[in-house]
Amino acid sequence: MSNPIPKAAPQTSATADGQKRLGPEIVAVQRCIVQSCGAAYGILEQIYLCPRCGGPLEIECPLDLANRSALPSLWHARGASQDLRDRSGVWRYRELLPFGDGVKIITLFEGNTPLYDAPRCAKYCGLSALRLKHQGCNPTGSFKDTGMTVAVTQAASLGARTVVCASTGNTAASLAAYAARAELQCAILLPQGQISPAKLAQSLDHGAIVCEIEGNFDDCMRLIGELADEPSIYIANSINPFRVEGQKTVAFEVLQQCEWRVPDHVVVPGGNMGNSSALGKGFDEMLRLGLIDRLPKISVIQAEGAAPLAHLFAGRKSADYDSASSEGIEVLKDPRTLATAIKIGAPVSWRKALRAVLSSHGDIIAVAEQEIADAKAMVGRDGIGCEPASAATVAGIRKLVAAGKIHPDESVVAVLTGHVLKDPDYVSNYHRGTLSLAANPDDKTDEPLQIQGAFRNEAVKISASKKSILESLERQR
Ligand code: F0G
Repeated sequence: MSNPIPKAAPQTSATADGQKRLGPEIVAVQRCIVQSCGAAYGILEQIYLCPRCGGPLEIECPLDLANRSALPSLWHARGASQDLRDRSGVWRYRELLPFGDGVKIITLFEGNTPLYDAPRCAKYCGLSALRLKHQGCNPTGSFKDTGMTVAVTQAASLGARTVVCASTGNTAASLAAYAARAELQCAILLPQGQISPAKLAQSLDHGAIVCEIEGNFDDCMRLIGELADEPSIYIANSINPFRVEGQKTVAFEVLQQCEWRVPDHVVVPGGNMGNSSALGKGFDEMLRLGLIDRLPKISVIQAEGAAPLAHLFAGRKSADYDSASSEGIEVLKDPRTLATAIKIGAPVSWRKALRAVLSSHGDIIAVAEQEIADAKAMVGRDGIGCEPASAATVAGIRKLVAAGKIHPDESVVAVLTGHVLKDPDYVSNYHRGTLSLAANPDDKTDEPLQIQGAFRNEAVKISASKKSILESLERQR
């Protein structure tokens, strides 16, 4: 597959040792993850892919920290501090972020999201316990905020004029909010008519220039690739390694909330694959720092109609990352799912996600629309509530338990990526029995898919009397 971000900013060059010192103590580089290349670039270079080979970049922070064993208690203590940086669940972990002490951070106090016990979901999945890390409790209602605080801080430090992203809705809402905080111009590219009105409303409200593109998300990403070499434009999609830096802190927060007992499994939904990549990086850094002694198995769940990485994973000939990734991903031209957040056929960060899954011995699978819809309703029954893409995790866990890949007594954390109010139309249609996926107009044999909600909860119309209310309660007892 050719990557939708074709080239880096032209002014780029690798420094002699690939490093730039940001402060007295911080030395970090942007490094190409392709093993045969491995080029390093300064942290202030505005690049998104390796200028030498076109491979993905990631930030390499030094891990030879003198005080490493004291970090967990330092991070814990910061939870009680009123310092701007300590109140953010991302900047609290700043020892592992590529910024000097003097940086002016752009924050909405992201992170600090709850890790809930979900007994009904556990039973539904066939587990004795299940915990849900609710990233939908971030300021703009999705996990994107943990990455956006870092990307927009970097954009502002670099003196960018305009920040831009392609989005299925949540990245846009998040970027729009952080750009507003930083007083930066913000433009977002959205697939016309394919995102939830609630997410679109957020971007409008935060003053972003909203470009509704005639095409799908992958077309928007292609345009991002074309815009990437404009020096005044800063790209905030997860191809940008600074986004991933912010999102990796979720792994640190989960470990802190688990009192540094590593869960057996961490399960995330997969769309453009930034989140799974980031979690993989976060856990890996904790392992290399010696703060944990093993990795959780990271598994990624996709929607059946938008599952290019699950297909590659199922059909791969080797468990070795280099051979599996060289087999290449087959791009889906017309991804289809009601979970619009993950309606993506050409995920840009698939290589990093595949590496995270293979190195932790996790899985990548796809789940059906019906499974996502019922799992979403089940999350709601636990009193939590998430958007459809998030519930793919619970549906996936149920499938992995049934397949014997997760054992009933293992400890499992599912990441919920978005808030239930992100897509209210989906929720009410599910409970009314009117949720359906239209037939593919290009496929004459395709038929509309009607979701038969196993946990439907339709509103009842009753007369305005105490008696009818009590009768209704009695009927439903
Ligand atoms: N869940 C939600 C709620 C999302 O919004 C997304 C991605 C994902 C899961 C998948 O995460 O892309 O890191 O694998 N939303 C992007 C957006 C694409 O533009 O808002 P991923």
